[in-house]
Amino acid sequence: MFPQTRLRRLRRQSLRPLFTETQVTLNDLIMPLFFVEGAKQKIPITSMPGQFRWPLSAAADIAKDLDADGIRAVFLFGIPKTKDAVASAAFATDGIVQEATRAIKAAVPEMVVITDLCACEYTDHGHCGIMHESCDGPDLDNDASLELMQKIAISQVMAGADIVAPSCMLDGMVMIIRKALDAAGYEYVPIMSYSTKFASALYGPFREAAYSGVSFGDRATYQINPGNGREAFRESLLDLKEGADILMVKPASIYLDVLAQIKKLGLPTAAYQVSGEYSMIKAAAQNRWIDEKLIVMESLTSIKRAGADLIITYYAQDVARWLA
Ligand code: PBG
Ligand code: ZN
Repeated sequence: MFPQTRLRRLRRQSLRPLFTETQVTLNDLIMPLFFVEGAKQKIPITSMPGQFRWPLSAAADIAKDLDADGIRAVFLFGIPKTKDAVASAAFATDGIVQEATRAIKAAVPEMVVITDLCACEYTDHGHCGIMHESCDGPDLDNDASLELMQKIAISQVMAGADIVAPSCMLDGMVMIIRKALDAAGYEYVPIMSYSTKFASALYGPFREAAYSGVSFGDRATYQINPGNGREAFRESLLDLKEGADILMVKPASIYLDVLAQIKKLGLPTAAYQVSGEYSMIKAAAQNRWIDEKLIVMESLTSIKRAGADLIITYYAQDVARWLA
């Protein structure tokens, strides 16, 4: 009888929930937070309506608030008082991320604190490490910057970070951080590697938020060319071999093909719905051109369907409230 296969049979209202393949849950979500050294009150991020740069004094309350909404993990960024050429504030014992980590763990010990491990918020030139003069002019000094990453990692873990997330895209970063952590007795601390990070225009609002734009050059000598899918796969494969515990694809929505491929490597996989993805949705929603709730859930569901076990998203707390 035509048509023999009727997919609509399972789409009836009462049956549909039983056949839902992918559902975003609270266990998938990680909330990014910015803390500003020396701030007295929260400062709005103009390009990311609804997001703020927080003073350290707010850390405990934010953690309790997120915990009450069912969020299990936060992802920390710091904005230091002073920046210099070698990112000294990134590994200071009393650095802003280190202090925020302590405050959050003291307020909510079970909150998982993941720290972004990079130098660009802390360097005066805005690049993700230490610079040197290369054959092409000023460029990131890979091996000198690796030592810096070791120092940052140790300082963050000593402050109580549960997971470190290197985002500098230096060659050898995972291996060298693993080595440093193990040597210091932190062999139980996982590394969530920004293993596949593209040189994307979608980080624009973040760089406003963190005052971390580059003063010269760009990040294309260390981040991946958006058209290079095979290279993106190799980057994640390398990080797996170097000992990464979790791989990450960033940005998320426009790199789902890459995410699906990297998922096949077998490691837990994270995706970062970055600042520009948030801002684009927000801008359209504020204009009432798009239904915010629907598009956020659709995009997060698609990111999960493509292979993400974890999603870092500025919408995490909103979603937690919508799901409640
Ligand atoms: C630091 C870092 C950046 C982001 C996460 N970690 C900025 C960058 O690489 O320029 C971007 C996050 C976002 O856009 O939400 N290297
Ligand atoms: Zn960086």
